[in-house]
Amino acid sequence: MANDEYDMSIRQQLAELKLASDDLDAIVNAFGVVDTNRNGCIDKTEMGDLLEQVQIKLAKYQIRDLLEKADLDNNNTISPTEFAQVYSQLQSEKYASSFKSAIASKSNLKKSEISKASAEGTQHSYSDDECAAFTKWIIKNLKDDEDCKARLKGIESGQLFQKMKDGILLCKMINHSVPETIDERTINKKNLNIYKEQENVNLALNSASAIGCSIINIGVFDITEAKEHLILGLLWQVIRIGLFAKIDLKHNPGISALLEEGESLDDLMALSPEDLLLRWMNYHLANSAKYQAKTGGKKIKNFNADIKDSIAYACLLEQIQPVDEETNQYELMPPITATIEVKSNTDRAERMLEEADRMNCREFVTAKDIVKGNTKLNMAFVANLFNTHPALVARDIEEIEEEDREVKTFRNWMNSLGVSPRVNKFTRDLNDGLVLLQLYQQVAGPDCVDWSKVTQPPYKPPAQFKKRANCQYAIDLAKTLGFKIVNIDGNDIFNEQRKLTLAVVWQVMRAYTFKILERISEDGSKIKDQEIMDWVNQKLESSGKESRLVSFKDSSISSSLVVIDLIDAIVPGSINYEVVTPGVEEEDMRSNAKYAISMARKIGSRIYALPEDLVDRNAKMVLTIFACLMGRGMDQV
Ligand SMILES: *[C@@H]1O[C@H](CO)[C@@H](O)[C@H](O)[C@H]1NC(C)=O
Repeated sequence: MANDEYDMSIRQQLAELKLASDDLDAIVNAFGVVDTNRNGCIDKTEMGDLLEQVQIKLAKYQIRDLLEKADLDNNNTISPTEFAQVYSQLQSEKYASSFKSAIASKSNLKKSEISKASAEGTQHSYSDDECAAFTKWIIKNLKDDEDCKARLKGIESGQLFQKMKDGILLCKMINHSVPETIDERTINKKNLNIYKEQENVNLALNSASAIGCSIINIGVFDITEAKEHLILGLLWQVIRIGLFAKIDLKHNPGISALLEEGESLDDLMALSPEDLLLRWMNYHLANSAKYQAKTGGKKIKNFNADIKDSIAYACLLEQIQPVDEETNQYELMPPITATIEVKSNTDRAERMLEEADRMNCREFVTAKDIVKGNTKLNMAFVANLFNTHPALVARDIEEIEEEDREVKTFRNWMNSLGVSPRVNKFTRDLNDGLVLLQLYQQVAGPDCVDWSKVTQPPYKPPAQFKKRANCQYAIDLAKTLGFKIVNIDGNDIFNEQRKLTLAVVWQVMRAYTFKILERISEDGSKIKDQEIMDWVNQKLESSGKESRLVSFKDSSISSSLVVIDLIDAIVPGSINYEVVTPGVEEEDMRSNAKYAISMARKIGSRIYALPEDLVDRNAKMVLTIFACLMGRGMDQV
């Protein structure tokens, strides 16, 4: 089978898993590497060989266990979907990074991509194409920022990673992707030394995590020591979150035009951002007479094989091009008819990109990236086209509710733990119980879930029975693990009962937050809310602070002063009291809360709560803030 065809067939088998495009790429890639005889499945010797070659230190029985668990249908071979499970499992475990980089370097050797030796002499590899694309995107978006100007100098000549080391560009990019995430005042900008740079990187990493980046394998030193592949991976997550942030009905009601027959808005918005983008492309292509004539109406199903000839791109650009108001002419002149008749793929791609340039959206891809079919970069190109030129007219639809804050925080938290598939839509993406089970593993250890009791997707119809059974197992297991689950059963999760699903997720998040404390408390015993309160007040008192914590929803929480004081008690001198306000007026409260959250992240607390949670005294989230800070405070002794 030709490479393309092979990849396509693996992709199709994985389609139902609705994986994030990154994960999908990684799995398709890894599968192709492992499946040396290209027969579409991995037999057990192939798997064993690979593990040995990539030097994962697993005992024979561990490999056997892994395979046993992976081979869900017991046919002695591993299918792509089964492999996807192994892969995500490996991802969540300790040896994930070595496994992944080994796969990457192995596949890169194969594809003769660039591979560079890292300081330790191990092979890590990254794509120069992606490095160049992200560098350009950073320049485009940060070039007017005074703090960035000096740092952007020379960045194009291969210095990206060196320039990221002090954390400032990272902070700025995170804040660009999700505005207001980082308080400007907390970034160290002057007289930098290693310690101050590390603080910036802490701020960046904990903020990245709060917007939903999975940073399980990345630590502060990976950034300060300029580990290329890790920085690039993080950057991509940050950029992708920014590109996807506005693909929703609130920002773009025009998305409603993409509804298909018999579909509800909820169904539509349950699509992954990748699928929505494909839907959008196909919508415009269906209206393009040229595209229909040229291709017979072929649908675009991916961001690699289907876009390589640039014909869909050229026709899409023509459909979404704006009219120049002065001349009343379309921007793309001469018409694209000539472009789609160009002979070679590369020349055609180049012509198309020149047209994109005229629309100021020549981003992320070069002609080479298109012809090679780099999924990541092509998807980013399309996402940016969508954000800048949606060319959609909204249907008459009911009032759209914005995703509420709590849901957003929980969603980001789950994604930051690397659940697969990524949670795009709450509650839809939780309604088969699998995400819940993965969350339990984060709290109670990887072995707490008996996967033999779980049906993995793709579900054979009728799917609802399998999904419902999974949900029931998830609820039963939650009770066994000691989560407080009252009057909730599997059906509630399957039926997407919002409040009840939130209640379960909250129980897990709470346990996750407290786990840090239990790890450091001497006897590993369960910590109670009151103990957190006592610890906080002792700390405040012994540091000579006057504020006290009365309860997690006491009216004084709104000023954030108690959080700010606690941070200064934990790291004396860290707070700049000149920027702290009395926190009485609404605006002052916001300012303090924003400062407090960013400062907490800067001193190393992984906090998911938002400034609004402090101002509005959301007791649950306030509890997590103090629990995280206590974890940070106890860690230092
Ligand atoms: C973050 O974004 C907000 C809104 O775009 C902006 O006002 C603020 O200055 C930015 N802060 C940083 C650290 O870039």
